[in-house]
Amino acid sequence: MTEKSAKPQITSTSRRTFLGAGLALGGAAIAGNTARAAQGEDVILEKQAWSQYLGDGVDARPYGHPSEFEKDVVRRDVAWLTADPVSSVNFTPLHELDGIITPNGLCFERHHAGIAEVDPSKHRLMINGLVDKPLVFTMQDLKRFPRRNHVYFLECAANSGMEWRGAQLNGCQFTHGMVHNVMYTGVPLKYLLEEAGVKTNGKWVMPEGADASAMTRSIPMFKALEDCLVAFKMNGEALRPEQGYPLRLVVPGWEGNMWVKWLRRIEVGDEPWHHREETSKYTDLLENGKARRFTWEMDAKSVITNPSPQAPLLHSKGQTVITGVAWSGRGTIERVDVSLDGGKNWRPARIDGPSLDKSIHRFYYDFDWDGSPLLLQSRAMDSTGYVQPTKAELRAVRGTNSIYHNNGIQTWHVMANGEVENVEVS
Ligand code: MTE
Ligand code: CO
Repeated sequence: MTEKSAKPQITSTSRRTFLGAGLALGGAAIAGNTARAAQGEDVILEKQAWSQYLGDGVDARPYGHPSEFEKDVVRRDVAWLTADPVSSVNFTPLHELDGIITPNGLCFERHHAGIAEVDPSKHRLMINGLVDKPLVFTMQDLKRFPRRNHVYFLECAANSGMEWRGAQLNGCQFTHGMVHNVMYTGVPLKYLLEEAGVKTNGKWVMPEGADASAMTRSIPMFKALEDCLVAFKMNGEALRPEQGYPLRLVVPGWEGNMWVKWLRRIEVGDEPWHHREETSKYTDLLENGKARRFTWEMDAKSVITNPSPQAPLLHSKGQTVITGVAWSGRGTIERVDVSLDGGKNWRPARIDGPSLDKSIHRFYYDFDWDGSPLLLQSRAMDSTGYVQPTKAELRAVRGTNSIYHNNGIQTWHVMANGEVENVEVS
């Protein structure tokens, strides 16, 4: 491939706001890095406490937790986005994860009225509206239907929303962390609708949450019958309260807002309800004053998770692993390309691990870093042939009024000292 060399213009994010713990990795940590190899030789000769004393027994940790050395691997919120934590969001620490599955305790949370603490013995799911036989299911009733297991990503349509007008948040946790990828166990919604008998004019469903926000969205019947799940397990164990225990709707590939948590009712109707979350919210205001509505599918997107502002490079040059995640609401990821020079030249990344429909894919680009600054980008292509756009391409079509559905290509500026910042190139 021919290397182009024109220097791109960089618009830097403000370095005023360092967000959360573990970010203030200044020169000290990085400068000390060269000493690490020699120090490592001493450490291997030292006898550590953990080799001299007995550890905890099998009775000490009935429910396992990560090592205390991993205590910074947590969901984080952004102070200025959190006027009140009961109606806010925190973010998945993408830069701390690998593979494709998000551990349950690290799945980002988005609540409109806090975490409902639901007693499953008092929880019911009702199906009503345009059905032959309105039904009310207990949790036990639901567990008698044939169930399915699927890994799906959930992305909030507002993920990367704060970046519409320029680089702002310094960390992929904050720019891209409103996504998680989980194996769900649940009953296809189709089976429950068939049990109730949908009338011929039943063309839409409206799931409703049991939390104080009574979250409701309109979903077309074709999607309800195609692949929606009424899920009660995530990654093998019961849903976490944060994720809608004991029951949530799974709407594969579609915006996270539709995945109603603490699911208590599904109404069948003949037209959409036009509730708050599909009118004043989750619509995209274009430059001409018109708004896009019912933008359900999540377009293909990717981001490099390491290195990134919260995960600087700790060596000065040589063998280096770049890794990241890619996903599409329309299928699998066919290909991810990585650029080291702000999108002038692209090289294919290696997708590793399962390639599942509407699931996060993991990619790697292994290379020999010469220690000079980099402008890292990743670009995903999905199984429909759709290619992730640049931010400029996205803005040319959608303007700058939007919050939702920002799937533009992210740029990280890796400096010679290994520190990384959020920038845009033009
Ligand atoms: N369901 C209910 N009942 N209440 C809510 O506040 N938030 C929605 C959706 N389902 C919400 C809900 C939004 S906007 C998103 S992005 C996802 O749940 C977030 O799911 P998570 O908290 O499991 O990440
Ligand atoms: Co959301």
